[in-house]
This record gives sequence, C-alpha cells and structure tokens, in this order.
Amino acid sequence: MRNPKESTDVPVSRGDAFRQADQGRNIHDVVDTIELQYTLPSFRAYKKAVLADLDLRPDSAVADLGSGLGHDVLAIGATIGPTGSCVGVDLSARLVELARARVPDGLTNVSFTVGSADDLDLEESSLDAVKADRLLMHLDEPSRVLAEAYRVLRPGGRMALVEPDCGTVTITSAVRAATRRFTDAWCDGFRHGWIGRDLPRMARQAGFRDVALSGHLVTAEGFAAVDALLDVSRTVARLEPQPASLTTWLATLQDGAAPDPITATVTMFHITARR
Ligand SMILES: C[S@@+](CC[C@H](N)C(=O)[O-])C[C@H]1O[C@@H](n2cnc3c(N)ncnc32)[C@H](O)[C@@H]1O
Repeated sequence: MRNPKESTDVPVSRGDAFRQADQGRNIHDVVDTIELQYTLPSFRAYKKAVLADLDLRPDSAVADLGSGLGHDVLAIGATIGPTGSCVGVDLSARLVELARARVPDGLTNVSFTVGSADDLDLEESSLDAVKADRLLMHLDEPSRVLAEAYRVLRPGGRMALVEPDCGTVTITSAVRAATRRFTDAWCDGFRHGWIGRDLPRMARQAGFRDVALSGHLVTAEGFAAVDALLDVSRTVARLEPQPASLTTWLATLQDGAAPDPITATVTMFHITARR
C-alpha cells in the first residue's frame, strides 16, 4: 500500500509535517517552512521580543522545546555567557542533526537533544528559563508540556510560549465566503489551531504565576510569500471534494487580479510567566 506521506498527489498538512518531521518527505517541507518564516521581517521582530522577555543572565540555564533548526538556541547561546547553557529539544532526529551542524565554532554553551517536550530528560528545578515557539499547536496533549516546563524550572524561573491562533488569520480578498472556507481549512489542519487564545488559561492551570499576554503580527506580502506562509495552494489541493468557489478564489489570488499586494497576517500569541 502506498504511504500517504510519500504521495505527491495529496499534500500532507503543515500540521502533520511538523508532527512527524522525520517521515517521508516531510523534512523538506519543515526545513523550507522554517527558513521561509525567518525571511519575514515581522517574524524576526517577534523572535527578538520573545528573547528579550526571557530575562537571560550570563549564567542562565535554558531549554528551547521544539527547537527546529536551532535558530533560537543559537540566539540564546550568543546572548548568555560561556557559563550559561541552552539545550534545544526536538522530536525530530533529522532536525537535531541539522541544528547541530549549524552551531558555529566556539559557541560551546549550546546543545541539542532528541526527545519529546512532554517527557523531558532534565532534572527538576534545574533551569532558569524555558521557551517553546509554535510547538504546542502540534501536540496531542499540550498541557503535558506545561507540566514538564513547570517541573524543570526553578521557583521564579521564566517561561515564554508563542503560538499562533489560526482563528485570527487574515488574507486580502474581496470574496469573504471562499476566504473563510480557506482559513477554516488551514486552521483545522493543525491539532490545536486555536491554541493562541488558550495559552494564559493553560499556564495558570499548570501553576504558573505572573502570566502576561502580548501579541505579534506576522505579515506576508505578495502571492509567493502568502502561499509560503499559509500553504494556500496545498491546503486547497488537500480539500476533498474541492469546492469550485475555492479553486476560483485561489486562481484569482495567483493571477494577481486580487487587490494588490495580497497580504496575509497571522497573530502570534505570546505569554510569559513565572514558576
Ligand atoms: C513549527 S516548528 C518550530 C521550530 C522552532 N521552535 C522555531 O521557532 O523555528 C515545530 C517543531 O516542533 C517539533 N516537535 C513536534 N512535536 C514535538 C514533540 N513532541 N517534542 C518536541 N518537539 C516536537 C518539530 O519537529 C519542529 O521542529
């Protein structure tokens, strides 16, 4: 039987690709998506804000859960001193391998390990800061990651979480019904497409205090960037049956007849909290 993950006919959802990065051709999607996101100025801007909120000191011990290609681990490693440490934990052995290959010579305070964020191989109360960015939306039980973050943080330690809320995605179009059909399909391709709005409640339930919520708008302009950010063409291609209104809507976006420039936005919900 053909493995659907290997099929080129029906593209896997971005959510499924991130849940199983090491399966089939998913790693290519995952790497391309992460690299594309970092080309967006608004994306890099929120990353800086999240880093600044971690209250890092030279000797901070930090973990980045769902570390991907390791961008944030390297940024944290460059911020803390040689006596500090930052470990990136990711379920994907291939991403961990790629992240390790990116560590510049001389940056000795960073490391990467293969593991699941909901079952950390880290000592209780051993860390000053924990962060996770666009991880919880992919997991079956995201609250287990918060429980683990609470366990490994020292009392007073800092947690920062960032997740989109796909119910707040916008895309310029004159055709509301088809746009809604698309944004619903995009949102429902993730395990927890609405997790952004739930973060403060989840953090409080896990026992965290001083929970503060802020938001960042990630924007993409022009069809190529919008398609890369929201996987528009492939999300439409995955719909079964495919509504004619949506294929027309997509063609309109593609041929530039839509208002120019096409802009898409995703709101990133960002919480900080203390153990
Ligand atoms: C959208 S990427 C985010 C990567 C990185 N945080 C960033 O900001 O570039 C989600 C990451 O979570 C990882 N992941 C998925 N499930 C995981 C789990 N249970 N434990 C740890 N990492 C996981 C994926 O392999 C992927 O690297």
